[in-house]
Amino acid sequence: MSSVQEVNPRVLGIRAPTSLQSLAAYITEQITQGTKKSFKKVIDVSSGDSHRAGMAPVSFVRQVLAVCLYPELFRVESLPLDVKLRAKRLLGGCGGGCVGSYSVTSCGLPLVQQSVAEFIMRRDGGVSSNPEEIILSDGSESSLSLVLHLMASGEGETQTGVLTPIPCPHTLPMLLDEAGVMLVPYQLREDRGWAVDLEELHRALKTARGRCKPRAIYISNPGNPTGFVQNRKTIEEVIQFAAAERLVLLADEVHQDSVYGQGSEFVSYKKVLFEMGKEYSETVELVSFHSISSACMGECGLRGGYMEIINMDPTVFKYLRNLLAYLSPTVLPQLVLEIMVNPPTPGDPSYKTYTQEILLTQTTVAQNAQRACEVLNDLPGMSCQPATGGIFLYPRLHVPPLMIEEAKSLGVEADVLYCQRFLEEEGVCLGAGCENGQEDKKYHIRLCVLAPPVTMEEVLARLRSFHLRLLS
Ligand SMILES: Cc1ncc(COP(=O)(O)O)c(C=O)c1O
Repeated sequence: MSSVQEVNPRVLGIRAPTSLQSLAAYITEQITQGTKKSFKKVIDVSSGDSHRAGMAPVSFVRQVLAVCLYPELFRVESLPLDVKLRAKRLLGGCGGGCVGSYSVTSCGLPLVQQSVAEFIMRRDGGVSSNPEEIILSDGSESSLSLVLHLMASGEGETQTGVLTPIPCPHTLPMLLDEAGVMLVPYQLREDRGWAVDLEELHRALKTARGRCKPRAIYISNPGNPTGFVQNRKTIEEVIQFAAAERLVLLADEVHQDSVYGQGSEFVSYKKVLFEMGKEYSETVELVSFHSISSACMGECGLRGGYMEIINMDPTVFKYLRNLLAYLSPTVLPQLVLEIMVNPPTPGDPSYKTYTQEILLTQTTVAQNAQRACEVLNDLPGMSCQPATGGIFLYPRLHVPPLMIEEAKSLGVEADVLYCQRFLEEEGVCLGAGCENGQEDKKYHIRLCVLAPPVTMEEVLARLRSFHLRLLS
């Protein structure tokens, strides 16, 4: 997810960039051209782009991709046998045995759809999964955007509305807006670690009716940016709510491989839905999303993912497939997806390295999240709910009144101004809160903890120094 938080050009002078990330790029350019700063380079921990933050890619993924892209590498003796076998199998699933050909079908490579279905069945303890209900795409945002466009209709009272958690992934409001659907906010409970609150869902729905036609509810689990992992009871309640109110469930489960809180585990909406009996499993419309931008793969730049569609009206499903007819997904990300859902198993030459690399990422996220939370909670004017999953922390900022006034006069939100100043003075790009426009204004920052520990320490040290200076 790229970050596009607005900053104020007036603060920056004539050639000023207009988003935190473009400001980061601008400062980087200045450093390259010789401008002296108190830091050598900009660190970007605003989005979940782990490779940008310095995490290493998974070796097996890159080795298999390399062989698929350049089959001459089959001859390289030092490459593990399972790399070559996997590359051969994947190429066998590509049109003409080559990654340069279009996807075999508009929904992706059948071989990958099959592997995804098998993964879902293993993950969900045997709950069945139909490869034909799995649509591969160039990333989960692109799948979500497609579904939103499909649901978008009407205007005014009849405009499609989507119940959306606040806070939510920072690009979501733009996706909704671009699709022409109305964002119907439901507030997550910060005082309960950012839990979903059933009463709040009812309140949000009631308030929205008459202003738009709510047709879906979006859920991010593990939560982006909250780090909250929903338990089975919450999921059941949300499903019952969706069933009673005839809402489509849009379950964004991209960070399912990153759950680390004690006693927390990832349970998919699909699994719970199917364990709630036919009354639900045969009626509630569910679209679940997963992606190779997940914590452990971190292949954000390759953009690949899938959505599994359950209980969609067959006519609508057919229409969706027709829509995709000319837009078959890119091939390379599908190969990464296949590896993600079907990793090396015990006995395979790459098993040990693969498992160690994944474990390293998972441990890094868990330790960074804990360390960062401690440091943030130690700062005056900052409070952070501990995360139990995902890749972000979302601490609350108690911004000094002077800065709030200054932000007002500049026409930006105070947390945006905070991030902007921090970036200019310390060279770290954070994300600002996404509650802007809410009446009861609370300020937050978004910090991705999927970064090498030494980078995280550097970020925390710079943040501490900036924050204390600001408050002094
Ligand atoms: C909750 C969530 N959904 C979606 C995405 C983006 O996924 P993709 O890159 O597959 O579009 C991210 C990226 O970090 C995310 O955190």
